[in-house]
Amino acid sequence: MPASLHERLAVRRADITTLHVDAIVNAANPSLLGGGGVDGAIHAAAGPELLAHCRTLGGCPTGEARITPGFALPARFVIHTVGPVWHGGHDDEDTMLGRCYRSSLALADAHGLRRVAIPAISTGVYGFPVERAARIAVTTVADELAARPALAHVLLVTFGDEATRVTEAALALRLAEA
Ligand code: APR
Repeated sequence: MPASLHERLAVRRADITTLHVDAIVNAANPSLLGGGGVDGAIHAAAGPELLAHCRTLGGCPTGEARITPGFALPARFVIHTVGPVWHGGHDDEDTMLGRCYRSSLALADAHGLRRVAIPAISTGVYGFPVERAARIAVTTVADELAARPALAHVLLVTFGDEATRVTEAALALRLAEA
């Protein structure tokens, strides 16, 4: 009997760089050469080898994902994805945000990774509305978990009060449908 969505998807308020999971997802920019926010925190915690490795990757288009070792992080791998910049919602931002979650979980699955933690992609510097992003995250990850039975557990990692409240509400709504 496959584990239920309740057992495979959860919200966790945490600093993602502290999580002992197979992979943490980074909200990067197309250069993959680091930045602020969660990107800055991940590079700071992983150490300089991460940047050195990222330099060899040649960047990453919005909506796609690239995988690297975790280096000094407790996570074994980092999956770097590039979210859309919010321009008001008429520039295919919703679709591109969904692609980030799908690309990241496809890459994790392809590498046989089972426990993945994902931050609230695009909701910081990139300005995506938090509630809208949370709904997209929960819906997309739930669909990917249904399609990818080898993925054991996904944590939607939040970093503030509002993001946590909003993401927990979005997950509760989806679990009520399950
Ligand atoms: N752990 C978990 N979540 C975090 C952490 C952390 N240590 N630090 C920040 N966050 C959260 C933010 O609160 C926000 O909810 O990650 C979410 C994404 O925000 P950003 O990091 O600003 O990412 P994003 O909005 O996708 O913008 C990407 O910012 O840092 C640059 O190089 C990055 O240019 C890229 C852009």
